[in-house]
Amino acid sequence: MIIAVDGPAAAGKGTLTRKLAEHFNLARLDTGMIYRAVGLKALKIGDPVDEKVAVEAAQLLSFDDLDQQGLRDEAAGNAASQVAAIPAVRDILLKFQRNFAANPPNDKIGAVLDGRDIGTVVCPDASYKLFILASPEVRAERRYKELQERGEEAIRSAILRDIIDRDERDRSRTVAPLEPATDAEVIDTSDMDADAVYAAALNYISSRM
Ligand code: DC
Repeated sequence: MIIAVDGPAAAGKGTLTRKLAEHFNLARLDTGMIYRAVGLKALKIGDPVDEKVAVEAAQLLSFDDLDQQGLRDEAAGNAASQVAAIPAVRDILLKFQRNFAANPPNDKIGAVLDGRDIGTVVCPDASYKLFILASPEVRAERRYKELQERGEEAIRSAILRDIIDRDERDRSRTVAPLEPATDAEVIDTSDMDADAVYAAALNYISSRM
């Protein structure tokens, strides 16, 4: 069983995939973390928009990098979105993601992956495909509250600006742009809480089982 969950930044993919993984006993991979780890590594080497720097960072990626601090920071998210626009970087990371889906760790019987191109590129044959979205304003507000709860300083307008910039970069890149697979179930979560999104996702999956 493979569940693909795609959508823009801060749409609630993480919360949803954690619940789905637990419910169906699946391995979970947040593929954004891979791009974030490469983005952070690229920032240490040089400029993440420089293809040579980004490719070197992708080649150096190891499992340990996925646990480091700072991966969730906006700086890592922005660098991730920059390296993610480089086809050679995506090519290196594609193998890692497909291998995870084909051989889920810990003897799990399947996997749930979240990202931008899981349903379109990484796992086009996934049994279930969800595309989760919400307006930029709603996503910025959710991110703002999340940062506040963690006691981190946050400026609403800056978060909204970052989200709009990242959407634009993720949608307009030539390779694997952010877009729903033609056979994905699209859920607009702008007026839904996390429980309602989970219920809608379960409803879609059970209707196809
Ligand atoms: O989901 P996230 O915000 O952690 O992702 C960070 C960036 O990584 C995002 O702006 C685009 C990129 N990304 C991608 O291009 N493809 C994926 N499957 C996952 C993330």
